[in-house]
Amino acid sequence: MTMKALAVVSTAVALTAAACAPVRPAVPGLDPRQTPTWSAADQRDFLYGSMGNEFVPERFLRAFIAAYPDLFPGGGLAAFGVLAEPGREWPVGFSRRAVTHLGNQPSIGMNCAACHLAEFREAADRPGLRVIGPPALFDVYAFSGALAVSMARTTEPANMVGFLSAYMPAARARIDARADTIRTAVAADPLTSKGLAPEALHDVAAGDLDAEDPVVVALAVLKVLHNMRTALHLPAKLPPPVPTLPGPGRTDAFGVLSVGLLATPARFDAPVKYGFPWNLDRRTWVHWDGNNRDPLARNVEATLGLGAPTGGGGRLLDFALVRRQTDLTQRIRPPRYPWPVDGAAAGRGAALYRAHCASCHDGVPEDQRLHAVEQIGTDPNRARLFDQTQADRTNAWLAALKVPGYSPSPQSYRSTGKYWAPDLDAAWARSPYLHNGSVRTMWDLLTPPAQRPRAFRRGSRVFDQAALGFLDAGPFVLDTTVSGNASTGHAYGTDLPDDAKRDLIEYLKTR
Ligand code: HEC
Ligand code: HEC
Repeated sequence: MTMKALAVVSTAVALTAAACAPVRPAVPGLDPRQTPTWSAADQRDFLYGSMGNEFVPERFLRAFIAAYPDLFPGGGLAAFGVLAEPGREWPVGFSRRAVTHLGNQPSIGMNCAACHLAEFREAADRPGLRVIGPPALFDVYAFSGALAVSMARTTEPANMVGFLSAYMPAARARIDARADTIRTAVAADPLTSKGLAPEALHDVAAGDLDAEDPVVVALAVLKVLHNMRTALHLPAKLPPPVPTLPGPGRTDAFGVLSVGLLATPARFDAPVKYGFPWNLDRRTWVHWDGNNRDPLARNVEATLGLGAPTGGGGRLLDFALVRRQTDLTQRIRPPRYPWPVDGAAAGRGAALYRAHCASCHDGVPEDQRLHAVEQIGTDPNRARLFDQTQADRTNAWLAALKVPGYSPSPQSYRSTGKYWAPDLDAAWARSPYLHNGSVRTMWDLLTPPAQRPRAFRRGSRVFDQAALGFLDAGPFVLDTTVSGNASTGHAYGTDLPDDAKRDLIEYLKTR
């Protein structure tokens, strides 16, 4: 067969396959049916646009990566589970914008896509399929830790010289010649907080970061580091590691916000899976405990919690950016299962679903979806964390904000102390399961709690279509015996025969 004939035949095969197979999105593009109202610009803004929280000048980040390779293994940000994008220096979900308090330097932030977009692969060597909504593998705790340690190291006189050499390699000779003076200047006031009020920021003249004299640059770097620390709510002395490591795809969001925004200590033993931003226009309450009903409040809080300066009631926040990301994310639809489904088995599974699951997971998304921790039996830490005191503090904090353009609505937050039984749209894409991501596959969730695996590894993008879940592979071990990681409870459907479980799983693929 000639090449041309071959091409025609394969096109025909591809078209036929496309007509009858479940729709397979263009790889690695996104399935446009998830976002029918988006323009190309909308998609770009979701993937790379700013939500207003740029927290590190990109030249600083490049210099950290070069100066401290032990903190950025493999170079770049690869070790933190980010999704690289060919032709772009920074990964999906990372924004770039100049911000005043960082010396007007182009700076890097993160947006919703950093946490709420995942890639699925049929096999390690197959191209990835990107889906909006499922938890990313991004390990935000490890990334923030590497950033915080890089910042702390750079304030040490001995390290500043090395940092500057990475920051402006062309000036190396000048830096070496002035090394002693640089060290002495840094040692005089490494944290540059003498005489500054809490939350106050330095004015940093952009020219100082490019000055001829490396001593001037070093002092400007210290001021930027102070502003970064203040905006990121990092204490001068780094805290010890948290008791329950979140790993990829999880964070103790309300613990972080408690410490950063409400100045209230947290135990950091309630890491949760990033939630599902689907069909938000059809829901009232969101989060694992159904504690929030105000998308703008939620996103203003996330932006201020993730690096936008909070001083002066957040008056530096560019609210239009938060509003833009909020508008974009209100109408994202759940993704469809991209691989073949056994229709007969799914039909049998539908009846099982109605009998065993629908009473909790279907119907109007109102408060009958909330279930007491004692009833469901899953890990209690997250439900208990956000108690009435936290809800009151958060509402009061929102009410006191002075973000230009933002008017907080009353009672955006409440405490329920319970877990919400979520819609099971795209249940296939939600692994690892439960609010704390403690159950690797749907098959494991349908296994009696005592027999579920005690530990599994996280980090693989390869998907097991029979069990519904990512492979037990990757750098992070999720140990379910650690506080906050329990994989107990939710025993529904676990006593079904194996055939019935397979039918139920097949049905869940159609949702
Ligand atoms: C650093 C990671 C991270 C970023 C960035 C992030 N989120 Fe989230 N998101 C989370 C976590 C964690 C939760 C679950 C919190 C909880 O319930 O305890 C969550 C929950 C949610 C929920 C609730 C979903 C549900 O099923 O109840 C929505 C909606 C949401 N995020 C939207 C957004 C939007 C919109 C943005 C950008 C403006 C954003 N998130 C940025 C981590 C993130
Ligand atoms: C009594 C109410 C109830 C019944 C019955 C029930 N569930 Fe749930 N389900 C919940 C609650 C509440 C949660 C949230 C628990 C948590 O995350 O800790 C949940 C969580 C889940 C999750 C995790 C979702 C995610 O994003 O991780 C899946 C999957 C699920 N249920 C599937 C099922 C299936 C399948 C059945 C039927 C065999 C079923 N459930 C029966 C109440 C119920």
